[in-house]
Amino acid sequence: MVSPTTIYPVIWQEDRVLLLDQTQLPAEATLVEITRCEDMARAIQNMMVRGAPAIGVAAAYGIYLGAREIQTQEREAFLSQLEEIAQMLRQTRPTAVNLFWAIGRMLKTAYETLGSIEEIKSNLVQTAHNIQTEDLQTCQKIGDNGLSILPAEPAQLSLLTHCNTGALATAGYGTALGVIRSALREGHLARVYIDETRPRLQGAKLTAWECVQDGILATVITDSMAAHCMQQGMIDAVVVGADRIAANGDTANKIGTYTLAVVAQAHEVPFFVAAPLSTVDFDLPNSSTIPIEERDPSEIYQVGETMLCPEGVAFYNPAFDVTPAALISAIITERGAVKPSELEQFHSQQMV
Ligand code: MRU
Repeated sequence: MVSPTTIYPVIWQEDRVLLLDQTQLPAEATLVEITRCEDMARAIQNMMVRGAPAIGVAAAYGIYLGAREIQTQEREAFLSQLEEIAQMLRQTRPTAVNLFWAIGRMLKTAYETLGSIEEIKSNLVQTAHNIQTEDLQTCQKIGDNGLSILPAEPAQLSLLTHCNTGALATAGYGTALGVIRSALREGHLARVYIDETRPRLQGAKLTAWECVQDGILATVITDSMAAHCMQQGMIDAVVVGADRIAANGDTANKIGTYTLAVVAQAHEVPFFVAAPLSTVDFDLPNSSTIPIEERDPSEIYQVGETMLCPEGVAFYNPAFDVTPAALISAIITERGAVKPSELEQFHSQQMV
């Protein structure tokens, strides 16, 4: 029996948040104390904390940290200042819908608490705790639901993943890496192949670090090697996460995911997306209006102090791409695995 991860990217300690600084991994595992909402917003923007569900958890605590600084005892004034805090947090990263989902849930708590300002503040911190606890449980269910849809043969699978979808990207355990953890626990995993995930190298730095911590046999490849590995018959299935899924199943995830899906289809390798239902944006019928974050071009041309490219060239640095639903074999959620085309119907049945 393999013990589940003990890696937590967001920790609530007494009256403050501790963030595991993901910009320093794998060299150093440093905890950074966050006591103010502005610092939480900066941490999300700078990717000290990253990954769709983890961003949601961090933003929820950010709302509480902001709320507790509000001095007024007057309800309308309090709510209006809380809206400003929410707006600041919404502007940190545009693509992962979990950020907006968590902020929305925190605001709902505030509006629905009819007692004193102190009661609102106390309900807000409780809601942030709930979002965190629920995400951990959700990820464990996603992991276990993945077992029912992964290929049964061979007995020990070689799985390919992209970016970091593990404990670091969630409240703990992970989505796609959660599926991989569950496969390992059941003795159904031979090895995980990890795309390095240019330009920020979440695969090489973060997923590889998690695998080493948890004793998962892992091989890092560069993004451009995935097609070759599939052609060589080295990959039994691909499992990735998601930042925002439209109602038709189109999935925005880390840049390079779409390439993987195309290549997987060409080699008849099943391609799975693992994500909580909070990552599905049922307000969007398809992916055409999913905002794709563009990050600083220095992520491409600079490594530490070293310049990789000559001056005079231009750069384009979208952080995410969209995989059309048609390329996805199934979406693995906490309520079960579903074909992308059946996502909306599946959701409405679950709501009944
Ligand atoms: O830019 P990042 O590192 O926040 O991007 C993370 C991803 O794209 C993950 O694959 C996604 O958030 C799913 S995490 C469970």
